[in-house]
Amino acid sequence: MTRRTPRFIQAHQSDSSDERAAALRGLLRTPAEASPKYFYDRLGSHLFDAITELPEYYPTRTEAAVFAAHGAEMASRIGGGASFIDLGAGNCAKAARLLPLLDPARYVAVDISADYLQDALRRLQREHPALDIVGVGLDFSSSPALPADLIGRDERPVFFYPGSSIGNFTPEQAQAFLAGLRAQAQGGGVLIGVDLVKPVPVLEAAYDDALGVTAAFNLNLLRNMNRLVGTDFDPTQWRHVAFFDSARSRIEMHLEAQRALVVGWAGGERAFRAGERLHTENSYKYTIESFSALLRGAGFHDQRCWTSGNGWFAVFWAKA
Ligand code: AVJ
Repeated sequence: MTRRTPRFIQAHQSDSSDERAAALRGLLRTPAEASPKYFYDRLGSHLFDAITELPEYYPTRTEAAVFAAHGAEMASRIGGGASFIDLGAGNCAKAARLLPLLDPARYVAVDISADYLQDALRRLQREHPALDIVGVGLDFSSSPALPADLIGRDERPVFFYPGSSIGNFTPEQAQAFLAGLRAQAQGGGVLIGVDLVKPVPVLEAAYDDALGVTAAFNLNLLRNMNRLVGTDFDPTQWRHVAFFDSARSRIEMHLEAQRALVVGWAGGERAFRAGERLHTENSYKYTIESFSALLRGAGFHDQRCWTSGNGWFAVFWAKA
């Protein structure tokens, strides 16, 4: 058998001066806010990997248990020969475990940086010599539109969006995002991991762990903004805050100024009072019913859902 080699495509990235302007507008808002995309530089990605190993952070291992228990049934519903499109693929570990069951014709790994995908995809190609593998560098958080030639006419696109990353969107944004996927998934569908509502102490511990790894992950956003946006945040002046807002059904993460301070950059500044916060992340938690309604609202049909034994995490399959 001839071994293929992965192809790589770097999609058009929005201009970094636009991104800088958007980040500074967020800092000038009241309350101030920053996009969670600023968590993920190299160190931030390592800190997130460390979070997934924490005893308090249940989502990653709970989702893995759902795939381990029900992956074969998922695969039989989805069917072979699809174009399996992994959104936020990273190290491609989750997809790698499903590929032997799913047997797709093509695996498309999408991540902000195509570079980051190179090693993982070359390794995967060795395990699946005949599989058509494509790496796409694309920040799909603002718009899920994929390069047009990625999905051929004769293919069945199956979007894979694990890890409850959908939780970073508001429900309205999430529904719009899913509707955008559905428009590109005709004949296929979406396989998506969703974190569920559960007792508040369990939720809050997952985002405020005893070792302070999540605090470091949150604070690292300041260093990354300094590097990318040119701000002069001093991480020692800030403290990690995380709590569950039951009315909005979301974890909120903030950084709180421990004293009055001023954050500056070329051409501007923002004063923070002692105790004033910078909002860095929302992580929405759904019920089976609320997420099912979201999928329906986005136009998906024939839903199936598998949950962990403790009811903490769900994986949905829905047809476009
Ligand atoms: C990657 C967005 C799914 O919301 O649980 C983990 C990010 N933030 N700990 C989540 C995160 C703090 C994570 N997602």
